[in-house]
Amino acid sequence: SLPVPSVQELVRNDPQSVPEKYVLHHEDRPTVLDMAPSSFDIPIIDFALLAKGDEDETRKLDLACKHWGFFQIINHGVAEELLINMKAAIAAFFELPLEEKNQYAQAGTDFQGYGQQYVVSEEQKLDWCDMMFLITLPPQIRNLKYWPHTIPGFKDAVERYSEGAQKVADEICDNISLLMGIDRDGLKRFYGKTKQAMRMNYYPPCSRPDLVLGINPHSDPDIITLLLQDDEIPGLQIRHKHEWILVKPIRNAIVVNVGDVVEILSNGVYKSVEHRAITNETKVRVSLATIKIPYDELEIGPMECMVGDHRPRMYRSIKYLDYVRYTLGRKMEGKAHVDNI
Ligand code: SIN
Ligand code: FE2
Repeated sequence: SLPVPSVQELVRNDPQSVPEKYVLHHEDRPTVLDMAPSSFDIPIIDFALLAKGDEDETRKLDLACKHWGFFQIINHGVAEELLINMKAAIAAFFELPLEEKNQYAQAGTDFQGYGQQYVVSEEQKLDWCDMMFLITLPPQIRNLKYWPHTIPGFKDAVERYSEGAQKVADEICDNISLLMGIDRDGLKRFYGKTKQAMRMNYYPPCSRPDLVLGINPHSDPDIITLLLQDDEIPGLQIRHKHEWILVKPIRNAIVVNVGDVVEILSNGVYKSVEHRAITNETKVRVSLATIKIPYDELEIGPMECMVGDHRPRMYRSIKYLDYVRYTLGRKMEGKAHVDNI
């Protein structure tokens, strides 16, 4: 892995410069058309109704996971105050001077801490993004040396939001389990104990949003992702029917997407959809991806209930750790890897 400079510092030193390493090949650049708000939007699900077993919401969840891989949830029960504190904690961290942020820099191979994406090749185009990656649950596996302790309220915000996010993620997974035709605990029984991690993304303004991406196209190699995006500044785009659709921010809503693990366990019925983030010419955008992941040793493969004469097995089984290693090595190839294992 090669060291990558902070994009925030790069922009601070020269707001106009866009180094070659970030300039995408023509065919990968966001076009004016796909940067514009789209006329339709990803499904919106009322979480409170879903949790009560409402049939319409359950059907919406089914369709959203099959055809979009993405949806937004409203009425999710995570208090607005928690969302505000969480966003403030992230902003406060990135506002620290570089030397202070570097005290929490990624070290070694555990991926946690402040830094940039994982770089696998010399030719790889870099993301216009700095990030902070932390394992957040279960509490006993946290490594507090990466948690910025000089920011009052950071630990408290992360702890409280991580609990709220876990409840929401679990409820959604339980409903997906029911939709798979097994009982509420079926998926949980399969993957067993899970971990939660947070990826805090900081996208500095970019003088040429037409040349770069905040995050290059990928699908998430997890069970499920909860994304808190900026209330005002859009950036997330998902691939839908060969088009890039910009996800319109809804105040206090949480964007949810199905991860590769659910796609594989459901034998391809539920889709882990490719997405990316575009940059903004004048404004900073911050987002928070909270991911639910299995332990390294879990063998992931299609569940028996999802395989039959009408639906042959689409993926072979692979140990989760090997799967993640495989996706990291092929990061720039979108989600081709899920379909090829
Ligand atoms: C991500 O894919 O992890 C983040 C996307 C975003 O910032 O909207
Ligand atoms: Fe993602």
